[in-house]
Amino acid sequence: MERILVTSALPYANGHIHLGHLVEYIQTDIWVRYQKLRGRRCIYVCADDTHGTAIMIRAQQEAVREEELIARMKQAHQRDFAGFQIQFDNYGSTNDPENRALCIEIWSALRRAGLVSQKEISQLYDPVAKTFLADRFVKGTCPRCQAPNQYGDSCDRCGAHYSPTDLIDPISTISGARPEVRSAQHLFITIEKLHGFLDDWTQNSGALQPEIANYLKGHFLNEPLRDWDVSRPAPYFGFEIPDSPGNYWYVWFDAPIGYISSTKQWCDRHGQRLDDWWRSEQSEIHHFIGKDITYFHTLFWPAMLKVAGFNLPKKVHIHGFLTVNGEKMSKSKGTFILASTYLQYLDPAYLRYYYAAKLSSGVEDIDLNFEEFAGKVNADLVGNIVNLASRTARFVQGQQLSAVYPDDKGLFARAAADAQQIADAYQQCDFARAIRIILAAGDRANQFIEQAAPWNLRNDASGAERLRDVCTIGLNLFRQIAVYLAPVLPRLAEQTGELLGVPIRHWDESQQPLLGATVSEFKHMLRRVDRHKVEAMVAASAEPEEQQEGSPNNLPIDSDEALRAEPLAPQISFEEFAKVDLRVARVLEAEEVEGAKKLLKLTLGLGGDHRRTVFAGIRGHYQPQELIGRLVICAANLAPRKMKFGVSEGMIVAVGDDSGVYLLYPDQGAKPGQRVH
Ligand code: 2FM
Ligand code: ZN
Repeated sequence: MERILVTSALPYANGHIHLGHLVEYIQTDIWVRYQKLRGRRCIYVCADDTHGTAIMIRAQQEAVREEELIARMKQAHQRDFAGFQIQFDNYGSTNDPENRALCIEIWSALRRAGLVSQKEISQLYDPVAKTFLADRFVKGTCPRCQAPNQYGDSCDRCGAHYSPTDLIDPISTISGARPEVRSAQHLFITIEKLHGFLDDWTQNSGALQPEIANYLKGHFLNEPLRDWDVSRPAPYFGFEIPDSPGNYWYVWFDAPIGYISSTKQWCDRHGQRLDDWWRSEQSEIHHFIGKDITYFHTLFWPAMLKVAGFNLPKKVHIHGFLTVNGEKMSKSKGTFILASTYLQYLDPAYLRYYYAAKLSSGVEDIDLNFEEFAGKVNADLVGNIVNLASRTARFVQGQQLSAVYPDDKGLFARAAADAQQIADAYQQCDFARAIRIILAAGDRANQFIEQAAPWNLRNDASGAERLRDVCTIGLNLFRQIAVYLAPVLPRLAEQTGELLGVPIRHWDESQQPLLGATVSEFKHMLRRVDRHKVEAMVAASAEPEEQQEGSPNNLPIDSDEALRAEPLAPQISFEEFAKVDLRVARVLEAEEVEGAKKLLKLTLGLGGDHRRTVFAGIRGHYQPQELIGRLVICAANLAPRKMKFGVSEGMIVAVGDDSGVYLLYPDQGAKPGQRVH
């Protein structure tokens, strides 16, 4: 195949990358690196998934424009991916103009094919936030089992699926208001017209894992396919539909089109034609996704591609979820770990290796067990693989490897013959199998070194040649493994290249020993996992239960509460009170003020573009980091005060004295800019 185009699911722009996401990005990156190592023309594209209600609400809450929020998040995502050596050829955004243009193109094709229809539908509407509510923004009592506090689409307790309008006593999680049922015109795609095509493609093309093909057949394709609702009325953060003003494409319509628009950006930068990648028999498309989004990628997406004349995916590689220590990731247990937190404590190579060792081509979930993680990395990577280099390189530093490959009793040849099996395992995404074969080669090489015991050979006229031969064998067996592991451990491959003066560039370098190369000084390649650091990472990720529920007032009543009462101030009139404009504000930035022991400098967002800089006497009681993103109450119409360190444009409301300072903040649901009254 001339061209291979690879994608991972586009991460939402309303959250940071965590270890669950990384299963997929690491899996895809390994597969792509493998293709590139084989010399294949392969590109890996991705983008941020930026549209939808969640982003719009979050931007409102943070009192920033959506564009600012998504730009900030894109940077954070790219930084985290780079930290794990996930290397995209292009990283775009679904809000980019290329994506809009492609949405229009695909939409026109759907219209031309007569697949778009219009219907009035009833939906819950938040009269306070003035927006229709996506299912996840409504909570209420389950209509089946009466469990309280359930989302608008399904019940966590009894598993019932329902429509948000069926919830008992629904409330909007955006404003806390009781939603109304309102109707609006929506645009639909009549996907049933493609039923025959989808039957054939899902069952016979070989693009899907057998369990996925069966699932689709049993759950969707055995009855008429329901029309797909692809529009949302304003307000909605997305692209307005050109032939339906006031309506926007639903995020799941434009998100996968981001795969094409990201490719387009890459093509434009490299003087390539998009059609050679998306409309050519010489190109194959591979999507990597999690099982939760199967249905978008195996029904709607192929339907859109087919109608608009793009290539269908050659393969949709679907993986399972991540559990940590056998359970769902949990904020209170500290197992909901952000990529950036991990990187503060541990080497990314550990996780790349561990995930690779656990990933097969099936859709079963994988478990990150920290005990196993530390044990495996220490035994396999440090104890087995890197040990090959550290036990031999130091004896030949600054010298050349032997000019003729010495007799190693067939070890190199045997591992070279493993190449095909390892390659097949990589190609099929059965990385666990590839790793098992590679580790067996590592074991054999270690046995050889153990027996040859270079540390007992004399580096003098009588022993130098034998020592060089033994080290030449050890280092070549190591390098051969580093080639095989290069897709998983790119940094180790680089270090190997630096040690032996010849970079690893191609899979076939596993087939020929390297001779005569000058060995550089041996530098540490990988440290053992320090279990204390794992514990520290978990501790740093743990959030107390009460805070997660966002219920700051549910604190136990202090036994000496009554003793704290102070005499009340003289009465004032309502008009006097009303002069103080108290507002809900979000802390956008917080930093210490040099030279001021008690002050933190805060930048507050008061809704819209309103901002205030406030110097608050809370240093020592709050860390700047913990304040960012929190809501506080701010006296917004206080005359600016010039202080030694700058002008303070308001005050935030707190209680306390020298023994403690406590900020007051509003209950869940309040939004920046709202007035306190
Ligand atoms: O589930 C998700 O995280 C989505 N943001 C994935 C989108 S993948 C593609 F279709 F864009
Ligand atoms: Zn229920």
